[in-house]
Amino acid sequence: MSHAWLPTLDCGVALGQVEEVLRRDGLVRIAGFPANTAHLIGFVSGLGTPLGYYGGDAGTHADNGAIWQVKYDPEASSRGEVHAVDGPLPVHSSQALREPRPRYFCMLMVDPGWQDAQPGYNGESLLVRWSDALQEISQRKPATYQSILETLLRSIRHPDDSLRSIAYRLADMRNDFDFGVRLKSDLLAHLRDSAPEDPVTSVVTQFADAAQRMARRVQLEAGDLVLVDNDRWGHGRESTVGRRRTATGDWLANPRELWSLTIA
Ligand SMILES: [Fe+2]
Repeated sequence: MSHAWLPTLDCGVALGQVEEVLRRDGLVRIAGFPANTAHLIGFVSGLGTPLGYYGGDAGTHADNGAIWQVKYDPEASSRGEVHAVDGPLPVHSSQALREPRPRYFCMLMVDPGWQDAQPGYNGESLLVRWSDALQEISQRKPATYQSILETLLRSIRHPDDSLRSIAYRLADMRNDFDFGVRLKSDLLAHLRDSAPEDPVTSVVTQFADAAQRMARRVQLEAGDLVLVDNDRWGHGRESTVGRRRTATGDWLANPRELWSLTIA
């Protein structure tokens, strides 16, 4: 399905055009991309350096450690491995603790899996422009927006014990709400656990909620490769149905499979 906010190019387009759209719109979809790890690495290497996943080996593709294979797996899911769960993934940044900030996040839909569940359970991708979330807060809470922004720009204690701000200034800021954002996927759970009464926890909750409200949804098709500016856009996913029982009583796993990469 086409969306005005998600510019779509055909596979085979010149890399310069991809970079131009990324600069202008912050994201781009390339349709008809083959599910071939070598081809994918070759293509994205034109944009920068594919980074290894920094959270350990769980979920990395056997062909290449820079590709994270997101696919439901009941055993890995029960161990809480994010790549294998069927629940929702709230919007977040790629490799939020990496400095300097990786420039791009990419995902290739290999198999969209089951598409017949109610909306919100088909693994729909979520993409949010962080400036939309800040603008939404400024409109809904004009009196407190400035202090919320200042809190987001201040360093806070992250799960790895480092001090980093969530929002940061961009050298080529384009409007009043155009800040870079690093939102680690488990930051909110960490803050609620370690500092439930801290006003920072409430501010991060408000920001994450606004981002979730402003997220756009797209059901990617097999062969859709989406590249996003990792400073300005967050990504996430609605739930999927992990497995189903067949008429004969056997469990069948959802074939949904997505490959993701981070580019420095
Ligand atoms: Fe992610």
